[in-house]
Amino acid sequence: MDAGLSGLSGLSGLSGLDLPRDAPGTGPARAPAISCRNLQVRFFTEHRTITALQGLNVDVPTGEFLTLLGPSGCGKSTLLRVVADLVQPNHGEVRVFGALPQVARLNRDIGFVFQDPALLPWRNALQNVELPLQVAVNRVRRAKATPRELLELVGLKGNERAYPHELSGGMRQRVSIARALASDPKILLMDEPFGALDEITRERLNEELRRVWRELGITLLFVTHSIHEAAYLGQRVLMMAANPGRVHAIVPVELPPDRTPALRESREFIALTSELRRLLGAC
Ligand SMILES: Nc1ncnc2c1ncn2[C@@H]1O[C@H](COP(=O)(O)OP(=O)(O)OP(=O)(O)O)[C@@H](O)[C@H]1O
Ligand SMILES: [Mg+2]
Repeated sequence: MDAGLSGLSGLSGLSGLDLPRDAPGTGPARAPAISCRNLQVRFFTEHRTITALQGLNVDVPTGEFLTLLGPSGCGKSTLLRVVADLVQPNHGEVRVFGALPQVARLNRDIGFVFQDPALLPWRNALQNVELPLQVAVNRVRRAKATPRELLELVGLKGNERAYPHELSGGMRQRVSIARALASDPKILLMDEPFGALDEITRERLNEELRRVWRELGITLLFVTHSIHEAAYLGQRVLMMAANPGRVHAIVPVELPPDRTPALRESREFIALTSELRRLLGAC
């Protein structure tokens, strides 16, 4: 059973967390957080060449919550990896705050959360969150919130000393989100982070993540296979198609910013998810 879900309610008193961050790009003339122009990524294997992304254009404004949806193999993870400077494009241009992804990587501007939380089993929750601050002591920027406060932010107050095997899957994923936030990233990339969780835990984490995002003013790219998750979380949904991986549609999410569980039952939400399902079927 997942626990500690009330963690965000008392956060306004935490130093620094209630203030807008000094993220770049908030002025009208600033570069978007992420900009991709005519992006192409090819992988050359022994037997064949795979075009993972072809002619992909997208701008992600600073502070946006963008969800990515699309069939398996359409290049969602590859796109995140290009932004994180883990994969180099063959053609086209990627800019993160107007500079090369490498600059963002060296500045520690980007945090990554994967489907597998990959916590160190011999470190407790707090020690796992502290890890990025300990491995690159001089280079890393520290979040205004301490690791302990970040655990509170993700709803794990009281679980600081628990070891990964003592935590549920949802709690482990919360630890990995706090760990990604510890080095104060301006962009958080999340690749199917809740894919392995049961529906109820996942919906709770969706609400928590929306609150964390609003609290921190971070730019968030979130990959999912769930139409409901994409609609509930995002301000826009980037729908991709496969073979080659490309943008199929960019769908604005015109739902109120305060997303509550009741919204999932609403007419607008059902209309949006039907539209996304229709588009996904045409990918
Ligand atoms: N390192 C790699 N070497 C060779 N091919 C790769 C590599 N990484 C990805 N690919 C190929 O690129 C394409 C896009 O892969 P990617 O993992 O980005 O898709 P995805 O949309 O994230 O899929 P999924 O929803 O299944 O996670 C696939 O055909 C995949 O096999
Ligand atoms: Mg993937």
